Amino acid sequence: QLGETAAELDCRAYVVGGFVRDLFLFRKNEDIDVVIEGDGIAFAKTFANAHGARTHTHEKFGTAVITFPDDFKIDVASARMEYYQFPASLPVVEMSSIKMDMFRRDFTINTLAIELNPDKFGRLLDFFSAQKDIKDKVLRVLHNLSFVEDPTRVFRALRFEQRFGFTIGKLTSSLIDNAVKMDFFKRVAGKRIYTELKLILKEEHPAPILLRLLDYDLLRIIHPLIKIENDLQRLLETAQKVTDWHDLLFIDESYERWAVYFMTLLCHCDLDATLEICNHLTIAPRYRKMFGETRIMMAEHLTRLERRKRMDNAQVYNLLKGLRTELILYMMICTTSDTAIKRISKYHTQLRHAAITLSGKDLLDMGLPPGPLFSRTLQAVLEAKLNGRVRNREEEIAFARQ
Ligand code: CTP
Repeated sequence: QLGETAAELDCRAYVVGGFVRDLFLFRKNEDIDVVIEGDGIAFAKTFANAHGARTHTHEKFGTAVITFPDDFKIDVASARMEYYQFPASLPVVEMSSIKMDMFRRDFTINTLAIELNPDKFGRLLDFFSAQKDIKDKVLRVLHNLSFVEDPTRVFRALRFEQRFGFTIGKLTSSLIDNAVKMDFFKRVAGKRIYTELKLILKEEHPAPILLRLLDYDLLRIIHPLIKIENDLQRLLETAQKVTDWHDLLFIDESYERWAVYFMTLLCHCDLDATLEICNHLTIAPRYRKMFGETRIMMAEHLTRLERRKRMDNAQVYNLLKGLRTELILYMMICTTSDTAIKRISKYHTQLRHAAITLSGKDLLDMGLPPGPLFSRTLQAVLEAKLNGRVRNREEEIAFARQ
């Protein structure tokens, strides 16, 4: 249908990029990117009108998003010469618009396009040997200036390398080394680095990617205050184990896994360094608080969980109650003490769900005067329940009466 609309408008439509790459890798991908040789915005509007969808357009970039009533989206871009600005030394003359659009992309594996117009429907365009590179499992840039054009592609390279189990081509690898050596990143805003870092942290297996960043000395680029100690590899591997453990046990509970990994990277940073990193990366205030003050306060709690010889359930509960899952998991990652790990995991699997049936109304019925004594009594009953001294409603009432 996309192809039919294109034919009606006398332009050509192609599905491109990650969607086509993932077809060849047998991976699921629901992000559809369409490139129109011609006016992408006019195409998107016509198509949306005919199919009961909405469009959101960016005239300046010649792009549009078509959104269907079920929220399914298609991104549309225009392949037109005037949208491209290449460094003068690149051989871009006499390329068709679609080839030019592919040429401006990051890696060869992202340069496949499939024609959608009915006359050539399904024809694959492979201008830069993408199929061969996918088959050989290598990641290559299209030209030597790729990282000059956009240094954040270095992060994408390592993300794709690990996600697909590819290797980075020799030349591409030396171009990354060069980008680091020449510090191409000094012109890149912290916000863009943060966006790329988050994409890495949101991958299924972020740890190997972060270790690869370390190989290329790129963690320093995220921020020079991120302290790289010898235990980074162990910490990241533990982060993977701990989050896997959590995700298996609490399949329905959502939390921000990427934030756990981010805190793992920050684990040797003090409050000042953390705040400086957050500022540089323009991290939102609610995360800033979790990554900064709360995380550092947790380190003190952790010391208690590690060192105190005897701690009953109520003491563990009182120390950890109300903490976000991200921080609970972070504490489990940071400690090497079995005692602390057992205490934290007991809290997370059992104690945090503890509840009593006794309410303020019950206390009123018992003749207790409303006031601070109410909450103290309820707290004492809860603690008794956590420590196994009361088990049911009768025992709760009897305990409250004492
Ligand atoms: N692209 C690029 N340079 C960048 C970012 C993106 O050339 N810095 C190109 C890529 O070729 C990619 C396309 O823009 O195919 C769309 O990028 P993105 O939305 O990140 O999609 P994917 O490559 O599919 O990545 P992912 O699988 O992580 O969604």
